[in-house]
Amino acid sequence: MRIVSGIQPTGNLHLGNYLGAIRNWVAMQEQVSAEGGECLYFLADLHAISMPHAPADLAANTREMVAALVACGIDPDRSILFNQAQVPQHSEMQWLLNGTARMGWLNRMTQWKDKAGKNREGASVALFTYPVLQAADVLLYQATHVPVGEDQKQHLELARDIAQKFNNDFCAENAPLFTLPAPFIPPEAARIMSLRDGSSKMSKSDPSDMSRINMTDGADTIMQKVKKAKTDPEPLPCEKAGLEGRAEAKNLVAIYAVMAGTSVDAVLSEFGGEGFGKFKPALGELLVEKLGPINERFLSLREDRAALDAILAKGAEKARARAVPTLEKTYQALGL
Ligand code: ADP
Ligand code: NA
Repeated sequence: MRIVSGIQPTGNLHLGNYLGAIRNWVAMQEQVSAEGGECLYFLADLHAISMPHAPADLAANTREMVAALVACGIDPDRSILFNQAQVPQHSEMQWLLNGTARMGWLNRMTQWKDKAGKNREGASVALFTYPVLQAADVLLYQATHVPVGEDQKQHLELARDIAQKFNNDFCAENAPLFTLPAPFIPPEAARIMSLRDGSSKMSKSDPSDMSRINMTDGADTIMQKVKKAKTDPEPLPCEKAGLEGRAEAKNLVAIYAVMAGTSVDAVLSEFGGEGFGKFKPALGELLVEKLGPINERFLSLREDRAALDAILAKGAEKARARAVPTLEKTYQALGL
């Protein structure tokens, strides 16, 4: 089993990023390495240039993301952690696959239609060919599995179509070059809502800092933010059904459940009938307890640029070693 997965390097990481994305990577790493497989995790910095971006931010966000991933439990000795830009084989493979991908296939991608919007003429070519780079990202490593959420299913299908067509067009029938990657359905990711309204997603783009728990927040800040989180005046219900129509309460209970590694029902059997005056401090303390060590590692690693660069350099070296044989065979198959 070889899993390949990428994440866009973003800064200002928060609890939503941790619970919704990073924690799944850590869980996959544990599962896959226990089964003798391998995870390749990359920062999708080449993808980032498909949209307007600030170069200095991109470099800083890439390092920040690496610091966060390692602080949260990605082990660079067990997983291969790297950024695309340091593995030029991604770009080379994309070009080679551009010969196989069809315009019609890319035109059908809903993300392209959504992101380009009405201004297709003004969109970057990279935004259009982005799914071919995604195909290259996984085919380059002969990935057996790719974790996909709802919004990425179509892109994985495309990667499989490209692999299949390439194998058909350029390989002997009994010697296909590319492995067709299967979807790996990750455990259902938590969707964390804002602390201010419970109905919009916790996000770095929310202007109110009180709406989210940042990875950089210390104990006092966390306690304060949880205390100030918007709630209703009712006590917590004893059963899950009682959370319907109570978005804020539902969100806080859900956060408690994931952080404690338990179910919503279990949380409600402990706190049902209690008011937020009791529940909020308990939630705050749980967050501080679980996030404290991560926060400490994150803050110290974030300042250690040399260590971060060394992690990325080592990861890129391992990734290149795995990419080169497939890339060479791809050139050969094409008569290059
Ligand atoms: P933001 O909304 O803060 O800009 P991004 O869009 O950069 O976050 O998301 C980075 C990753 O974190 C994605 O995989 C996304 O699904 C996940 N993520 C972001 N916000 C949340 C959230 N509130 N709950 C769960 N997952 C989230
Ligand atoms: Na966003």
